[in-house]
Amino acid sequence: MPDAVIEISGLRKSFRRRHRPRRVALDGLDLVVPRGGVHGFLGPNGSGKTTTIRVLLGLCRPDSGRIRIMGADVPRSLPAVISELGALVETPRFHPESSGRFNLGLLARAGDLPPTRVEEVLELVGLRDRAGDAFSGYSLGMKQRLGIAAALLGRPRLVILDEPGNGLDPEGLRDVRDLIRQLGSQGHTTVLLSSHLLPEVQSVCDRVSVLARGRCVASGTVAELLAAPGDADLQVRADRHDAARAVLEDAGWQVSAMTGSGEPPSWRVHAVADRAAVTSTLAERRIYVTELIPLQRDLESAYLELTAAHSEVADALAGQAPAEARGRGRGRAQGEEGERR
Ligand SMILES: Nc1ncnc2c1ncn2[C@@H]1O[C@H](COP(=O)(O)OP(=O)(O)O)[C@@H](O)[C@H]1O
Ligand SMILES: [Mg+2]
Repeated sequence: MPDAVIEISGLRKSFRRRHRPRRVALDGLDLVVPRGGVHGFLGPNGSGKTTTIRVLLGLCRPDSGRIRIMGADVPRSLPAVISELGALVETPRFHPESSGRFNLGLLARAGDLPPTRVEEVLELVGLRDRAGDAFSGYSLGMKQRLGIAAALLGRPRLVILDEPGNGLDPEGLRDVRDLIRQLGSQGHTTVLLSSHLLPEVQSVCDRVSVLARGRCVASGTVAELLAAPGDADLQVRADRHDAARAVLEDAGWQVSAMTGSGEPPSWRVHAVADRAAVTSTLAERRIYVTELIPLQRDLESAYLELTAAHSEVADALAGQAPAEARGRGRGRAQGEEGERR
Protein backbone atom coordinates (compact mmCIF):
# COMPACT_ATOMS: atom_id res chain seq x y z
CA MET A 1 0.00 0.00 0.00
CA PRO A 2 1.35 3.46 -0.83
CA ASP A 3 2.32 5.69 2.05
CA ALA A 4 -0.36 8.25 1.34
CA VAL A 5 -3.94 7.34 2.24
CA ILE A 6 -5.33 10.23 0.20
CA GLU A 7 -3.82 11.69 -2.96
CA ILE A 8 -5.74 14.40 -4.76
CA SER A 9 -4.43 16.35 -7.70
CA GLY A 10 -5.99 19.09 -9.79
CA LEU A 11 -9.45 18.54 -8.34
CA ARG A 12 -12.13 20.84 -9.72
CA LYS A 13 -15.76 21.03 -8.81
CA SER A 14 -18.28 23.70 -9.68
CA PHE A 15 -21.99 23.94 -9.02
CA ARG A 16 -24.69 25.11 -11.37
CA ARG A 17 -26.62 28.19 -10.30
CA ARG A 18 -29.79 29.55 -11.77
CA HIS A 19 -29.17 32.57 -14.02
CA ARG A 20 -25.68 32.98 -12.72
CA PRO A 21 -22.24 31.65 -13.57
CA ARG A 22 -21.31 28.33 -12.00
CA ARG A 23 -19.92 28.54 -8.51
CA VAL A 24 -16.41 27.19 -8.30
CA ALA A 25 -16.03 25.21 -5.09
CA LEU A 26 -12.76 23.41 -5.84
CA ASP A 27 -10.30 25.16 -8.06
CA GLY A 28 -7.46 22.75 -8.77
CA LEU A 29 -7.03 21.26 -5.32
CA ASP A 30 -3.91 19.25 -4.57
CA LEU A 31 -3.79 17.34 -1.32
CA VAL A 32 -1.72 14.49 0.07
CA VAL A 33 -2.58 12.88 3.38
CA PRO A 34 0.20 10.60 4.60
CA ARG A 35 -0.66 7.44 6.49
CA GLY A 36 -1.04 7.60 10.27
CA GLY A 37 -2.01 10.18 12.84
CA VAL A 38 -4.45 13.05 12.59
CA HIS A 39 -4.39 15.31 9.54
CA GLY A 40 -6.11 18.66 9.94
CA PHE A 41 -8.10 19.98 7.00
CA LEU A 42 -8.40 23.62 7.86
CA GLY A 43 -10.09 26.43 5.97
CA PRO A 44 -12.67 29.18 6.36
CA ASN A 45 -16.34 28.47 5.75
CA GLY A 46 -16.97 28.02 2.06
CA SER A 47 -13.36 27.14 1.22
CA GLY A 48 -14.36 23.70 -0.09
CA LYS A 49 -13.74 21.24 2.75
CA THR A 50 -17.11 19.52 2.66
CA THR A 51 -17.12 19.42 -1.13
CA THR A 52 -13.70 17.72 -1.08
CA ILE A 53 -14.94 15.19 1.45
CA ARG A 54 -18.11 14.51 -0.50
CA VAL A 55 -16.08 13.91 -3.63
CA LEU A 56 -13.74 11.60 -1.70
CA LEU A 57 -16.69 9.57 -0.52
CA GLY A 58 -18.19 9.35 -3.98
CA LEU A 59 -21.18 11.50 -2.93
CA CYS A 60 -20.65 14.03 -5.67
CA ARG A 61 -18.87 13.93 -8.97
CA PRO A 62 -15.94 16.26 -9.66
CA ASP A 63 -15.57 18.18 -12.94
CA SER A 64 -12.01 16.94 -13.26
CA GLY A 65 -8.99 15.85 -11.29
CA ARG A 66 -7.50 12.69 -9.91
CA ILE A 67 -8.32 11.16 -6.55
CA ARG A 68 -6.87 8.08 -4.93
CA ILE A 69 -7.78 6.61 -1.59
CA MET A 70 -5.33 3.99 -0.32
CA GLY A 71 -4.15 3.55 -3.86
CA ALA A 72 -7.61 3.07 -5.38
CA ASP A 73 -8.92 5.51 -7.98
CA VAL A 74 -12.08 7.30 -6.85
CA PRO A 75 -14.87 6.97 -7.79
CA ARG A 76 -14.07 4.04 -10.13
CA SER A 77 -12.39 1.76 -7.57
CA LEU A 78 -14.03 3.17 -4.47
CA PRO A 79 -15.89 -0.11 -3.79
CA ALA A 80 -12.51 -1.80 -3.30
CA VAL A 81 -11.61 0.41 -0.35
CA ILE A 82 -14.98 1.56 0.96
CA SER A 83 -14.88 -0.98 3.78
CA GLU A 84 -11.64 0.64 5.00
CA LEU A 85 -13.34 3.99 5.23
CA GLY A 86 -15.42 5.58 7.97
CA ALA A 87 -16.90 9.04 7.72
CA LEU A 88 -18.94 11.60 9.56
CA VAL A 89 -20.20 14.32 7.24
CA GLU A 90 -22.31 17.04 8.76
CA THR A 91 -24.85 16.08 11.39
CA PRO A 92 -25.26 12.31 11.60
CA ARG A 93 -28.72 10.93 10.92
CA PHE A 94 -30.19 8.21 13.08
CA HIS A 95 -33.65 6.92 13.94
CA PRO A 96 -34.67 9.44 16.60
CA GLU A 97 -36.94 7.16 18.62
CA SER A 98 -34.47 4.27 18.77
CA SER A 99 -31.57 4.00 21.16
CA GLY A 100 -27.97 4.66 20.24
CA ARG A 101 -27.25 0.96 20.67
CA PHE A 102 -30.15 -0.06 18.42
CA ASN A 103 -29.09 2.42 15.73
CA LEU A 104 -25.53 1.14 15.74
CA GLY A 105 -26.84 -2.43 15.76
CA LEU A 106 -28.68 -1.80 12.49
CA LEU A 107 -25.54 -0.45 10.90
CA ALA A 108 -23.45 -3.32 12.26
CA ARG A 109 -25.86 -5.86 10.84
CA ALA A 110 -25.86 -4.12 7.48
CA GLY A 111 -22.07 -4.29 7.52
CA ASP A 112 -21.93 -7.93 8.69
CA LEU A 113 -20.26 -6.93 11.93
CA PRO A 114 -20.81 -8.77 15.23
CA PRO A 115 -22.92 -7.12 17.98
CA THR A 116 -19.82 -7.12 20.20
CA ARG A 117 -18.34 -4.48 17.90
CA VAL A 118 -21.26 -2.19 18.78
CA GLU A 119 -20.34 -2.44 22.46
CA GLU A 120 -16.70 -1.78 21.66
CA VAL A 121 -17.34 1.45 19.78
CA LEU A 122 -19.88 2.59 22.37
CA GLU A 123 -17.15 2.15 24.96
CA LEU A 124 -14.62 3.93 22.77
CA VAL A 125 -16.75 7.05 22.39
CA GLY A 126 -17.86 7.00 26.02
CA LEU A 127 -21.56 6.37 25.35
CA ARG A 128 -21.99 3.01 26.99
CA ASP A 129 -23.93 4.40 29.96
CA ARG A 130 -26.46 6.12 27.71
CA ALA A 131 -26.54 3.54 24.93
CA GLY A 132 -30.07 2.47 25.84
CA ASP A 133 -31.55 5.99 25.64
CA ALA A 134 -33.43 7.25 22.61
CA PHE A 135 -31.24 9.13 20.14
CA SER A 136 -33.61 12.12 20.27
CA GLY A 137 -32.75 12.64 23.92
CA TYR A 138 -29.00 12.89 23.33
CA SER A 139 -27.13 16.16 23.64
CA LEU A 140 -25.47 17.47 20.50
CA GLY A 141 -22.11 16.19 21.75
CA MET A 142 -23.54 12.72 22.32
CA LYS A 143 -25.14 12.71 18.85
CA GLN A 144 -21.82 13.66 17.37
CA ARG A 145 -20.04 10.94 19.32
CA LEU A 146 -22.60 8.39 18.17
CA GLY A 147 -21.87 9.54 14.62
CA ILE A 148 -18.18 8.95 15.23
CA ALA A 149 -18.98 5.55 16.73
CA ALA A 150 -20.86 4.67 13.55
CA ALA A 151 -17.88 5.77 11.47
CA LEU A 152 -15.60 3.52 13.52
CA LEU A 153 -17.74 0.38 13.42
CA GLY A 154 -15.87 -1.33 10.58
CA ARG A 155 -12.41 -0.58 12.06
CA PRO A 156 -11.62 1.71 9.15
CA ARG A 157 -8.06 2.59 8.27
CA LEU A 158 -9.17 6.04 7.21
CA VAL A 159 -11.67 8.08 9.23
CA ILE A 160 -12.96 11.31 7.74
CA LEU A 161 -14.63 13.70 10.14
CA ASP A 162 -16.20 16.85 8.72
CA GLU A 163 -16.32 19.56 11.39
CA PRO A 164 -17.14 17.17 14.22
CA GLY A 165 -16.87 20.08 16.65
CA ASN A 166 -19.70 22.07 15.07
CA GLY A 167 -22.27 23.17 17.59
CA LEU A 168 -20.59 21.48 20.53
CA ASP A 169 -20.25 23.09 23.94
CA PRO A 170 -16.74 23.22 25.46
CA GLU A 171 -17.25 19.91 27.27
CA GLY A 172 -18.50 18.15 24.14
CA LEU A 173 -15.60 19.62 22.21
CA ARG A 174 -13.11 18.32 24.72
CA ASP A 175 -14.60 14.82 24.59
CA VAL A 176 -14.53 14.73 20.81
CA ARG A 177 -10.99 16.11 20.74
CA ASP A 178 -9.77 13.50 23.23
CA LEU A 179 -11.41 10.79 21.18
CA ILE A 180 -9.77 11.97 17.96
CA ARG A 181 -6.40 12.22 19.63
CA GLN A 182 -6.83 8.66 20.89
CA LEU A 183 -7.79 7.41 17.41
CA GLY A 184 -4.80 9.08 15.82
CA SER A 185 -2.39 7.56 18.30
CA GLN A 186 -3.47 4.00 17.61
CA GLY A 187 -1.36 3.57 14.50
CA HIS A 188 -4.01 1.58 12.64
CA THR A 189 -6.07 4.63 11.75
CA THR A 190 -5.49 7.84 9.85
CA VAL A 191 -7.92 10.63 10.69
CA LEU A 192 -8.75 13.48 8.34
CA LEU A 193 -10.28 16.16 10.54
CA SER A 194 -11.87 19.18 8.90
CA SER A 195 -12.57 22.41 10.71
CA HIS A 196 -12.83 26.12 10.10
CA LEU A 197 -11.52 26.76 13.61
CA LEU A 198 -7.82 26.64 14.15
CA PRO A 199 -7.86 25.75 17.86
CA GLU A 200 -9.90 22.65 17.08
CA VAL A 201 -7.24 21.16 14.86
CA GLN A 202 -4.09 22.69 16.27
CA SER A 203 -4.08 20.72 19.49
CA VAL A 204 -4.84 17.31 17.97
CA CYS A 205 -3.23 17.30 14.54
CA ASP A 206 0.15 16.01 13.50
CA ARG A 207 -0.12 17.72 10.16
CA VAL A 208 -2.36 20.37 8.70
CA SER A 209 -3.44 21.34 5.19
CA VAL A 210 -4.91 24.79 4.79
CA LEU A 211 -7.62 25.41 2.23
CA ALA A 212 -8.61 28.77 0.78
CA ARG A 213 -10.99 29.30 -2.11
CA GLY A 214 -10.91 25.70 -3.24
CA ARG A 215 -7.14 25.33 -3.24
CA CYS A 216 -4.64 23.97 -0.79
CA VAL A 217 -2.46 26.93 0.17
CA ALA A 218 -0.20 25.25 2.71
CA SER A 219 0.46 21.78 4.01
CA GLY A 220 2.82 20.43 6.62
CA THR A 221 3.40 20.02 10.31
CA VAL A 222 2.24 22.84 12.56
CA ALA A 223 5.91 23.79 13.03
CA GLU A 224 6.45 23.95 9.28
CA LEU A 225 3.44 26.20 8.79
CA LEU A 226 4.76 28.56 11.43
CA ALA A 227 8.12 28.68 9.72
CA ALA A 228 6.52 29.24 6.30
CA PRO A 229 8.11 32.10 4.45
CA GLY A 230 5.65 34.74 5.46
CA ASP A 231 6.99 38.14 6.34
CA ALA A 232 7.72 38.14 10.05
CA ASP A 233 7.44 41.10 12.38
CA LEU A 234 10.61 42.46 13.93
CA GLN A 235 11.21 43.96 17.32
CA VAL A 236 13.65 46.85 16.93
CA ARG A 237 15.41 48.78 19.66
CA ALA A 238 17.53 51.74 18.63
CA ASP A 239 19.58 54.40 20.40
CA ARG A 240 17.36 57.19 19.08
CA HIS A 241 13.92 55.74 19.71
CA ASP A 242 11.57 58.33 18.19
CA ALA A 243 13.81 59.10 15.24
CA ALA A 244 13.96 55.39 14.45
CA ARG A 245 10.20 55.21 14.03
CA ALA A 246 10.10 58.23 11.74
CA VAL A 247 12.87 56.85 9.53
CA LEU A 248 11.28 53.41 9.28
CA GLU A 249 7.87 54.84 8.46
CA ASP A 250 9.40 57.14 5.85
CA ALA A 251 10.95 54.08 4.28
CA GLY A 252 7.47 52.51 4.04
CA TRP A 253 7.31 50.09 6.95
CA GLN A 254 4.40 49.92 9.31
CA VAL A 255 5.60 50.55 12.86
CA SER A 256 3.80 50.24 16.18
CA ALA A 257 4.83 50.46 19.83
CA MET A 258 5.88 47.19 21.46
CA THR A 259 4.26 46.86 24.82
CA GLY A 260 5.50 44.72 27.65
CA SER A 261 8.94 44.34 26.15
CA GLY A 262 10.91 46.10 28.87
CA GLU A 263 13.03 49.23 28.87
CA PRO A 264 14.21 51.11 26.94
CA PRO A 265 11.13 50.99 24.68
CA SER A 266 11.18 49.28 21.32
CA TRP A 267 9.17 49.24 18.09
CA ARG A 268 7.39 46.48 16.29
CA VAL A 269 8.05 46.66 12.56
CA HIS A 270 5.38 44.75 10.68
CA ALA A 271 5.76 42.22 7.87
CA VAL A 272 9.44 42.65 7.15
CA ALA A 273 10.66 40.75 4.12
CA ASP A 274 14.27 41.94 4.29
CA ARG A 275 15.70 42.33 7.79
CA ALA A 276 19.02 43.69 6.58
CA ALA A 277 17.19 46.57 4.94
CA VAL A 278 15.85 47.66 8.32
CA THR A 279 19.33 47.83 9.80
CA SER A 280 20.88 49.56 6.81
CA THR A 281 18.06 52.11 6.51
CA LEU A 282 18.56 53.11 10.14
CA ALA A 283 22.37 53.08 9.81
CA GLU A 284 22.23 55.44 6.85
CA ARG A 285 20.53 57.96 9.13
CA ARG A 286 23.13 57.29 11.82
CA ILE A 287 20.74 55.48 14.09
CA TYR A 288 22.31 52.57 15.88
CA VAL A 289 20.27 49.41 16.31
CA THR A 290 20.83 47.96 19.76
CA GLU A 291 18.50 45.02 19.37
CA LEU A 292 16.68 43.33 16.51
CA ILE A 293 14.55 40.28 17.21
CA PRO A 294 12.39 38.41 14.69
CA LEU A 295 9.04 37.77 16.36
CA GLN A 296 7.65 34.25 16.21
CA ARG A 297 4.36 34.14 14.37
CA ASP A 298 1.60 32.24 15.99
CA LEU A 299 -0.41 29.76 14.00
CA GLU A 300 -3.49 31.95 14.16
CA SER A 301 -1.80 34.76 12.27
CA ALA A 302 -0.15 32.33 9.88
CA TYR A 303 -3.59 30.84 9.15
CA LEU A 304 -5.22 34.24 8.72
CA GLU A 305 -2.41 35.45 6.49
CA LEU A 306 -2.56 32.35 4.34
CA THR A 307 -6.29 32.34 3.85
CA ALA A 308 -6.68 36.12 3.62
CA ALA A 309 -3.87 36.52 1.10
CA HIS A 310 -5.34 33.88 -1.15
CA SER A 311 -8.83 35.24 -0.79
CA GLU A 312 -7.73 38.73 -1.78
CA VAL A 313 -5.88 37.51 -4.84
CA ALA A 314 -8.81 35.38 -5.92
CA ASP A 315 -11.34 38.14 -5.19
CA ALA A 316 -9.36 40.53 -7.32
CA LEU A 317 -9.24 38.02 -10.16
CA ALA A 318 -12.91 37.15 -9.93
CA GLY A 319 -14.06 40.71 -9.21
CA GLN A 320 -16.20 39.37 -6.38
CA ALA A 321 -17.12 40.83 -3.03
CA PRO A 322 -14.93 39.22 -0.37
CA ALA A 323 -17.77 38.47 2.05
CA GLU A 324 -19.74 36.49 -0.50
CA ALA A 325 -16.65 34.91 -1.91
CA ARG A 326 -15.50 33.67 1.46
CA GLY A 327 -18.88 32.12 2.02
CA ARG A 328 -19.39 33.60 5.47
CA GLY A 329 -22.06 31.79 7.37
CA ARG A 330 -23.35 28.40 6.50
CA GLY A 331 -26.46 29.38 4.55
CA ARG A 332 -26.60 29.24 0.80
CA ALA A 333 -28.29 31.70 -1.48
CA GLN A 334 -31.66 30.70 -2.82
CA GLY A 335 -31.75 29.37 -6.32
CA GLU A 336 -28.56 27.36 -6.15
CA GLU A 337 -28.60 23.84 -7.38
CA GLY A 338 -28.76 21.44 -4.50
CA GLU A 339 -26.59 18.43 -5.04
CA ARG A 340 -26.75 17.21 -1.51
CA ARG A 341 -28.45 13.96 -0.84
N1 LIG B 1 -24.79 21.85 -3.41
C1 LIG B 1 -24.21 23.03 -3.65
N2 LIG B 1 -24.76 23.90 -4.52
C2 LIG B 1 -24.17 25.09 -4.78
N3 LIG B 1 -23.05 25.52 -4.20
C3 LIG B 1 -22.45 24.71 -3.31
C4 LIG B 1 -23.00 23.42 -2.98
N4 LIG B 1 -22.19 22.84 -2.07
C5 LIG B 1 -21.20 23.72 -1.85
N5 LIG B 1 -21.36 24.85 -2.57
C6 LIG B 1 -20.46 26.02 -2.61
O1 LIG B 1 -19.14 25.57 -2.75
C7 LIG B 1 -18.25 26.31 -1.92
C8 LIG B 1 -17.54 25.39 -0.96
O2 LIG B 1 -18.49 24.89 -0.02
P1 LIG B 1 -18.14 23.81 1.07
O3 LIG B 1 -17.38 22.70 0.43
O4 LIG B 1 -19.38 23.46 1.77
O5 LIG B 1 -17.14 24.63 2.01
P2 LIG B 1 -16.70 24.33 3.53
O6 LIG B 1 -17.08 22.94 3.87
O7 LIG B 1 -15.22 24.57 3.52
O8 LIG B 1 -17.41 25.35 4.36
C9 LIG B 1 -19.09 27.38 -1.26
O9 LIG B 1 -19.01 28.53 -2.02
C10 LIG B 1 -20.47 26.78 -1.29
O10 LIG B 1 -21.43 27.79 -1.28
MG1 LIG C 1 -18.23 22.26 5.44
